Amino acid sequence: MTAVVQQALRDGVSVITLEDPPVNALGIAVRRGLAQAIAAAQADDRVRAVVIHGTGRGFSAGADIREFGRAREQPWMGEVCQAVEACTRPVIAALHGMALGGGLELALAAHYRIAAPGTRLGLPEVQLGLLPGAGGTQRLPRLIGASAALDLMLSGRHAGAGEALALGLIDRIAVEGDLLEQAVAWANALSASGAPPRRSCEAQGLADRAASLAALETARAGLARKFRGQVAPFRIADAVQAAIEQPFEEGLRAERAGFLQCIDSPQREGLVHAFFAERRVRQIPEARSGTPRPVRTVGVIGGGTMGSGIAVALLDAGLHVTMVERDADSLARGQRNVGKVYDRLVASRRLTEGDKAATLARFTGATAYEALAQADLVVEAVFEDMAVKKGVFAELDRLCRRDAVLATNTSFLDIDEIAASISRPQDVIGLHFFSPANIMKLLEIVVPRQVAPDVVATGFALADTLRKVPVRAGVCDGFIGNRILYVYREAASHMLEDGASPYQIDQALEDFGYAMGPYRTADLTGGDISWAARKRKAATRDPRARYVRIADLLCERGWFGQKTGRGFYQYPDGARTGRHDPEVLALIDAERAERGIRPRAFTDEQVVRRYMAALVNEAAKVLQDGIALRPLDIDVTMVHGYGFPRWRGGPMKYADTVGLAALLADIREYEKEDPLFWQPAPLLVGLVQRGQDFDTLNQGSSHA
Ligand code: 3HC
Ligand code: NAI
Repeated sequence: MTAVVQQALRDGVSVITLEDPPVNALGIAVRRGLAQAIAAAQADDRVRAVVIHGTGRGFSAGADIREFGRAREQPWMGEVCQAVEACTRPVIAALHGMALGGGLELALAAHYRIAAPGTRLGLPEVQLGLLPGAGGTQRLPRLIGASAALDLMLSGRHAGAGEALALGLIDRIAVEGDLLEQAVAWANALSASGAPPRRSCEAQGLADRAASLAALETARAGLARKFRGQVAPFRIADAVQAAIEQPFEEGLRAERAGFLQCIDSPQREGLVHAFFAERRVRQIPEARSGTPRPVRTVGVIGGGTMGSGIAVALLDAGLHVTMVERDADSLARGQRNVGKVYDRLVASRRLTEGDKAATLARFTGATAYEALAQADLVVEAVFEDMAVKKGVFAELDRLCRRDAVLATNTSFLDIDEIAASISRPQDVIGLHFFSPANIMKLLEIVVPRQVAPDVVATGFALADTLRKVPVRAGVCDGFIGNRILYVYREAASHMLEDGASPYQIDQALEDFGYAMGPYRTADLTGGDISWAARKRKAATRDPRARYVRIADLLCERGWFGQKTGRGFYQYPDGARTGRHDPEVLALIDAERAERGIRPRAFTDEQVVRRYMAALVNEAAKVLQDGIALRPLDIDVTMVHGYGFPRWRGGPMKYADTVGLAALLADIREYEKEDPLFWQPAPLLVGLVQRGQDFDTLNQGSSHA
């Protein structure tokens, strides 16, 4: 027996224990150990039943993701599951913590399942660009029906023990106490009553073939929209079709073929990169030296778009929130903004009136800063204006507790300057949320020069509390995300003026995998906001830099996007999806003529290449300036804050996939047209010269 799998005989029950921290992933040693243990139990006449359980945080989190992309070693998990299911003595899986992916598939191959309260069960393979590959696509629908199985496999979500029981995924929920003891007792009772192995492969959940096929059709109908460009969800649907229409063994073969196709795909590679990157962003230099300050009560200053969204994010995480606005009317509006979020949840039955009341009981408002005197942390989200922000921080300096963390949600302003303006710069940090702040996962944690390590650690701990993905960023104009965004938006506007239409650019990028192209996004967020930013920056703009006026011309006509009924698109009668607007195209044509530009055609591929080249080039400069710690921090930023397709791993991972030499060659080509805008990043040039890629830099620096 390998050390990671133990086996012991207890009251005639063979107890097989998975013991491979941190999450009992099913790496080769565990698979070998399991296969041996099942064979030994089968061969031992003293064994009347088998219990499989895990130690530590959970039963198992599934396949060992670190093994993907390496040579595959036998036995694979599907074979282990076959052996478990074929066992002639009853096999009970005793689940706790998590039973995910191959871990749940192992449990499905067992004959009976008991789960501790609080266990999370799911098949999250789709989130890694995979389908369940150890029989899950065949056993699960047979056990719980096509509709519920498709829901679990296509969402990858975790079901709680209660839901799992209702679905028929497990047979019982253990009472509090020793799970293993209860599983062994049950195993003994089953064998005493002569209960036979009850195999999922023989379950009748698909007996109503017509209903199963109808459920499959419904699921398939939504796939193209929901998973544009992705492969695994379609293979999941195919595997379920095989489960409905073919014998079990045939279905397993279909599943295996789909799994092998996915495991070797760049999408799987991109998603696994994203998985590890989302964890490694938490490895920061301050993690060692700073212990987070406790945060229970938070002040939010400003109840506008961001302040109210941040308040909701904090309330949802169970914190106490005090909102401060400049006058009673603004406060009432801010409170209404917050209230509306919960009203909508109640209206759509996702929240009860009671829960809403309980949440809002933790929410208070004030028009005087004195209300923040006891706050553990304050987030400022007032107008984007240095003088206003400094005024707010002066008040905080005067009134807040000496150990309070003072955060700003500024998008672009110099946080070093804000920090230096008060007597305690060590407590000042940037917490840059994204709109809508209660939904968007990214939290840029902007680290000014003088900040104390424990304040940085507090920012990261807060992100965990809010279930957000934190990325450490340095201070510069726009930090990581907005600084890069500004540049690739410029590249898009150059193409717009040179001959591409906003609709082509949007479509090309949506086909690439973005949820929304840049012009649709601009219409959604409101053209007036970036217009104001452009006006503000006009004085400091390099006079030699190309400036495209098209967006300004739209704004001058009052076309700010969805909220005004038109922007780059038309939104008649409050429509949410825009229509192409011939007047916008005419306006762009006129502007080209005025500037003496003869429009030229771009292919969709050329659009994407320029856009990505601009993005990656600026990202390399961000890295070089030390604004981002590693390429993976940029990947996570762009995926979780800017709609970059997660299945491509992030822009830096994408650049590695395309090849940095090819990307640099593009930049050099564009440089001939506009040498100021397209200056290649020295870091990129250096990587190409050394034959390295961005991932080399990910490997090189660890801040664990
Ligand atoms: N393989 C290898 N390592 C894993 C892992 C896995 N399946 N799951 C988690 N880990 C590692 C993490 O990388 C992390 O390592 P670190 O401490 O060195 O950074 C450690 O375990 C703890 O993980 P988290 O920090 O994510 O801890 P959480 O408590 O936040 O979450 C979890 C735990 C819910 C299990 C989460 O890690 C998770 O979702 N894991 C992935 C689960 C998954 O996708 N399983 C399916 C795999 S594919 C499969 O099974 C194929 C099969 O069909 C054949
Ligand atoms: P907003 O204009 O919607 O809200 C600002 C609010 O601050 C207003 O309600 C105003 O009454 C209040 N306010 C102004 N001065 C105040 C003071 N001295 N004391 C108390 N309240 C005061 O602006 P929005 O969009 O919410 O932006 C706020 C901050 O967040 C800005 O710094 C912005 O750059 C940043 N930000 C905005 C994002 C967005 O998408 N809108 C995204 C990320 C950051």
